[in-house]
Amino acid sequence: MLKRFSISLEEDLLENFDAYILQHRYSNRSEAVRDLIRKSLVREEWESNSQVVGVITLVYDHHRPQLQEKVTELQHRFYNIITSSTHVHMDHDNCLEVTITKGKASDVQELAQGLIALKGVKDGNLTMSSTGGKLY
Ligand code: NI
Repeated sequence: MLKRFSISLEEDLLENFDAYILQHRYSNRSEAVRDLIRKSLVREEWESNSQVVGVITLVYDHHRPQLQEKVTELQHRFYNIITSSTHVHMDHDNCLEVTITKGKASDVQELAQGLIALKGVKDGNLTMSSTGGKLY
């Protein structure tokens, strides 16, 4: 159920916010405010080491010796927080590996940092998300 409330803002801040809304293609101020609030709550959950969901994306060199084994080894060490992983052979030289996780924020970050720091990983990202903490 939607509830309404009003917000008072300085004119300059509102102008900047409206520019942000245009740039990010929000359909209205309410949708933008909702999204920013959700993002702040997700960040807070990660910072307080709550139960979170995270997606780790890796692009790495298929030809680097032992790299695939090291990725698998780390995934086995953190098996209890990994929901699933998908490997895509992108082209002759590159692999894409997406690891979906659910667990304590610090564990998810440790796994992500371990994977991203492996030699031969060309790009790595952790997308931090959450359901809002109510479903765990
Ligand atoms: Ni591959």
